[in-house]
Amino acid sequence: SRTQVGIVGAGPAGLMLSHLLARAGIDSVAVDTRDYETISTTHRAGILEHDSVRLLVDSGACDRVLTEGREHDGISLRFNGEHHRIDFQELVGATTTLYPQTDVFVDLAKARERDGGDVRFAVTDSDITDVRATTDGERPRMRFTDADGERHDIECDVVVGADGSRSVTRQHVEGREELFRSYPYAWFGILCEAPQSYDELIYSRSERGFALISQRTDKVQRMYFGCSPDEDVDAWSDDRIWEELQTRVAGEDGFELQQGPIIEKTVLPFRSFVCEPMRYGRLVLAGDAAHTVPPTGAKGLNLALADVRVLAEELERFFAGKDDALDAYAERALARVWRAQHFSYWMTTMLHTTEEDSDFDDRRHLGELESLVSSENGRAWLAECYTGWPNKPAG
Ligand code: DHB
Repeated sequence: SRTQVGIVGAGPAGLMLSHLLARAGIDSVAVDTRDYETISTTHRAGILEHDSVRLLVDSGACDRVLTEGREHDGISLRFNGEHHRIDFQELVGATTTLYPQTDVFVDLAKARERDGGDVRFAVTDSDITDVRATTDGERPRMRFTDADGERHDIECDVVVGADGSRSVTRQHVEGREELFRSYPYAWFGILCEAPQSYDELIYSRSERGFALISQRTDKVQRMYFGCSPDEDVDAWSDDRIWEELQTRVAGEDGFELQQGPIIEKTVLPFRSFVCEPMRYGRLVLAGDAAHTVPPTGAKGLNLALADVRVLAEELERFFAGKDDALDAYAERALARVWRAQHFSYWMTTMLHTTEEDSDFDDRRHLGELESLVSSENGRAWLAECYTGWPNKPAG
């Protein structure tokens, strides 16, 4: 059989692409080796940029983000035991929305089902073939065994690798450059059953290290603290976790977290990664398959959605006969990727501490934070980056 676009990976990037293509009259098949249950219960990011919300709503994928998402006008940077608010609305006229990635996934999967989209979860033995030949005009094939054990071999005009940071499709990009950076930090992430402690996000730098106070619902909260990449979650009792978090947000203002039972604990490693180019022949990469950012600044999911918005536009041009469309995608997407790489790196290094930090390092970072929050231009720059950049237009 055949399809216009074979999509490897049915997470938010793959599903959003499939949805946008369907609206443009382009057919696709999306496959994922993970099952629906696994993807929908893997806790990931929580913050959507303004344009990510617009994309979900305007494309008809999801209205729930408007009723159940929580719009935030800003964030708080906390250091020296004080809050320093960054008012996005006032500084750049934009907001962000707290809406978990798991909900984005569920909404997109529902929209694909509603519209008769072809999405296969829990496939096995999936591969793509003939990618090298596609530079000579051949077509790639996407092969997989579906959840019922039936074998498929689908000829595609284009294959999109949206298969996440451990991407298999990426291995087909011959001559690729992999740009990589590791960090001596990780996050200890928890979900807890407690009322919210604050109505926006708090990014805190303290002598004991980083902490991020986020939310999920009225009754469930999401929090993280900086830890070593080889931290053992089982060494952390609820009491020990709460003490660590409380210490990292404590200050003269008496701010305290609302505590409750901890229902999930995970350690999240940090890395920065970009694969260039994001295209080889008739294969293009999107989302984490092409780039990973450390989580500070909440760029990962937003970057993936921004990729597929541009990719859907360029695939429309491709199927209208524009030969440069796939290259144009790679170039337009990459321009945003490097801005996000810098911003995520900057937020991360400014807010985290390691045992090796000298007192000089520590005070220099506090100087950086002071300088940032005391400057309206500094705050506005952070607000611009955090709420998201406009796309470079087509052509
Ligand atoms: C969340 C995650 C992030 O990486 C971030 O910067 C802000 C919030 C979250 O899971 O809520």
